[in-house]
Amino acid sequence: MSITLKVRSPLPTTTNYEPIPNCNRAQIIVKSPSICKYLKPIARSGATFFCRSSTTTPVFLSDAGRNMVLEEFDPEIPLQEAMTPPSSWYTQPSFFHLELERVFYREWQAVGYTEQIENSMDFFTGRLGNVEFVVCRDADGNLQAHHNVCRHRASPLASGTGKKSCFVCPYHGWTYGLDGSLQKATRTTGIRNFQENDFGLVPIKVATWGPLVLINLDKHKSSDRRNDHRKAAHGEVDDVGMEWLGNSLLVLGNIGIDSTSFRHVRRREYPMECNWKVYCDNYLDGDYHVPFVHKGLTASLNLASYSVTNFDKVSVQACETATTTTGGNDNYRMGSKALYAFVYPNFTIARYGPWLETNLVLPVSPGKCVVVFDYFLEASRLKEKGFVDRSLEESHKIQVEDIEVCEAVQKGLESPAYRRGRYAPAAEEALYRFHSSLHNSLSQPSI
Ligand code: FES
Ligand SMILES: [Fe+2]
Repeated sequence: MSITLKVRSPLPTTTNYEPIPNCNRAQIIVKSPSICKYLKPIARSGATFFCRSSTTTPVFLSDAGRNMVLEEFDPEIPLQEAMTPPSSWYTQPSFFHLELERVFYREWQAVGYTEQIENSMDFFTGRLGNVEFVVCRDADGNLQAHHNVCRHRASPLASGTGKKSCFVCPYHGWTYGLDGSLQKATRTTGIRNFQENDFGLVPIKVATWGPLVLINLDKHKSSDRRNDHRKAAHGEVDDVGMEWLGNSLLVLGNIGIDSTSFRHVRRREYPMECNWKVYCDNYLDGDYHVPFVHKGLTASLNLASYSVTNFDKVSVQACETATTTTGGNDNYRMGSKALYAFVYPNFTIARYGPWLETNLVLPVSPGKCVVVFDYFLEASRLKEKGFVDRSLEESHKIQVEDIEVCEAVQKGLESPAYRRGRYAPAAEEALYRFHSSLHNSLSQPSI
């Protein structure tokens, strides 16, 4: 394959390139990350190149390079013929930052649960990408969310969870109400052109759905606030369900996921050495990996009954549990049927037996994420300690198996031997739709 490169200046003589054989498009592996700055996109049809290090050294791409990485996946190609996104989607720092900006800072994120802010003055904090946030219930019972950054010199104000009547900055003592208003700026005598009203905490949109608390960092998103002007004034959003779950809302509502009768039992956080999408991909391939990776779980499922229903923002996998030797269906943990919903872009809701289990996949860096598991149980089963412990242990075992395979996949994605794969159409349509949705989000212009 002959390839023309336009270069801005002579390339270092030690650098070499190699074309990848049998590719649809002209592609080049750049063996030294340091030369990427010398390369310029070639604007002729059918030709593109991308930077890829043969080491694990991260490479920052220009905007044009980043867009070319994005366009390496083409959602117009049907599933049966499509290639998976290139491995650079899972390794490139600049692509990761694009995801933060165009996906995570624009979509609703289920960052907590209602019991954390059940009473006035309860609060919890968290981090999403580079955003520190705090969610609280003010003295009047209004739900509030703010950027957890002091307006003086940027110290975070609160940490962890608990109860507070106001936020006092630990650095120099500026004090904010739970509604975010600046109440006291210490030692500002002599300051000019300063209005305390202009220095309140930066608000974030917040909402609840069933037992979940959601935030949305998109300043420009319009939300339906017609029903409650009091809430609107404080940033709380009504009717988030439709905006968050789209046309899957009825289905998920019908199986009790939105019920407020669940009680929170346990939170577990699993740091993982893989890109956040590796975990989501793994979740979405459903019954494809289960027989290979989760032998114990396989025995308790009737995989022949496995079905996947794709909605616009949600993919729902359903599976009956295996019948016992006596023909019964009394799986102690899962009941007769399990349902696994993946909510674009990074949240899962599993409903089985008396359990509601959620996973929030938090991006940390191109090669790291944290998966936050929250377990909710029907209130009537809360006292069954043996059952609770056994169920949680079983779930933990499955997660350990998933961690092992996901971290191994990340290593494979970083290998120069792997570029892109193919989809198994009968098992991986949800995965293909996830990648297509991402492509769509990432193609939206910056605001
Ligand atoms: S940074 Fe908060 S008071 Fe100075
Ligand atoms: Fe799994």
